Amino acid sequence: MGDAIPPLTPKKEINLLRGWPHFSLLPVEKIKKASQKALADEKTVIPGLCYGPDPGFQPLRESIQRWTGRFFGDEGKMRDGEKIGDRICITGGASQNLACVLQVFSDPIYTNVWMVAPCYFLACRIFEDSGVVIGAVPEGDEGVDLEYLRKKLETEDAKPATRLKSQKPWSKIYRHIIYCVPTFSNPSGKTMSLTCRQSLIQLARKHDALIITDDVYDSLLWSTTPSTSNPTKAVLPRLIDVDRTLEPTPGKDSFGNAMSNGSFSKIAGPGVRTGWAEASPKFIYGLSQCGSSRSGGAPSQLTATMINELLVSGDLENHIQNTLIPAYKRRCEFMVDAITKYLSPLGVSVGETSFSSTSSSSDGVFGGYFIWIDLPSDINAEVVSLKARQQENLIVAPGKLFEVYGDESVTFPNSIRLCFSFEEEKDLAEGVERLGNAIKAVRESGAGNKGLGGEVDLALFR
Ligand SMILES: Cc1ncc(COP(=O)(O)O)c(C=O)c1O
Repeated sequence: MGDAIPPLTPKKEINLLRGWPHFSLLPVEKIKKASQKALADEKTVIPGLCYGPDPGFQPLRESIQRWTGRFFGDEGKMRDGEKIGDRICITGGASQNLACVLQVFSDPIYTNVWMVAPCYFLACRIFEDSGVVIGAVPEGDEGVDLEYLRKKLETEDAKPATRLKSQKPWSKIYRHIIYCVPTFSNPSGKTMSLTCRQSLIQLARKHDALIITDDVYDSLLWSTTPSTSNPTKAVLPRLIDVDRTLEPTPGKDSFGNAMSNGSFSKIAGPGVRTGWAEASPKFIYGLSQCGSSRSGGAPSQLTATMINELLVSGDLENHIQNTLIPAYKRRCEFMVDAITKYLSPLGVSVGETSFSSTSSSSDGVFGGYFIWIDLPSDINAEVVSLKARQQENLIVAPGKLFEVYGDESVTFPNSIRLCFSFEEEKDLAEGVERLGNAIKAVRESGAGNKGLGGEVDLALFR
């Protein structure tokens, strides 16, 4: 990593790269109340301070399954012999759990990983650490280019494959892993259509693939149709919901072909480092047998007791509905307006900022943290990002950051991701205006279409 490039301007820094909640959106008082309650009660503080069960703090497993059941609309639909909480395992957040899933369900020489691109770039290192080979699959219009993926899977399946790891009774080694963020994607903001979700499950079943979805933005959604109230439930099923219900439904003893990675980072605070995995009970049991969970239980045990209080009291849902959603909706609208005002006249186009779940409905929704923009094809996004940093003290993330590491077949030389969750609300429009200045400066200098070459150095954009 090189040193961060210093800005050459006295302007105050504006950071539209950082995917954090603004500090004012952290539920400090609610977390204080929940933690005091958890710590004051012997029934929670003693288990909270001890080694816990492999799949995590049982009351939180149950609370999460009830909550996701309400939100995704499958409340109470349990199979014979299934108990509430069986489909949930407590994790140390989506990133930590991705590493555990790979430890249990992948083999470095047998399993191929396919990342939908543009991708959540920080997941690349987690895949690299596990030794698997990663390939890129374009997102396309529907959320994943299924034909492209199908060809890749068929080509790999035709090759002989051997394994390094021995089979464990609680796990299964999948031939392929497909990783995506199907709802309000980081970075593209795109939502995968229902038909694409269904076809993707069918493809995964056919090719022995596990689909890992980071479903970390699903509950942060709002209406984009004026005078329509914000939805209180998800507008689309997750891939795991499709996998559970699409005929022929998997048998009771199936590991299934999808796992949902949930996280409290975006709705309670990233520092809680707590999340959950949701999948078939058999998959969840296997995941809980990951070596690091067998040694002392699931991560985040004490925090799990506090998060459970937040859920049981209704405070978390209240925070999402009454604080986060109105704030993110407003912030997103400010940014879209600013893009229309300052960037559209420069030829910049905007990615998805409204999604309609049925073709017959004009009602739209949007959510998450990010807006994806495309500069004109003669303007390179890395060059603009550097110009923005030096001339405008503005930090933005160029599309190259979201290319799949090691597979340069799917590229984004003219794209930029803008985040509306972190900066001061009043600075969002100014940030976009400054980006417009940087684009104009690059265009005037004639340096527009040259990339910087090589790997993107994150330090340049901090
Ligand atoms: C798609 C996606 N997955 C995972 C994470 C990180 O989640 P966690 O903090 O639970 O590890 C983020 C955070 O930006 C994200 O956008």
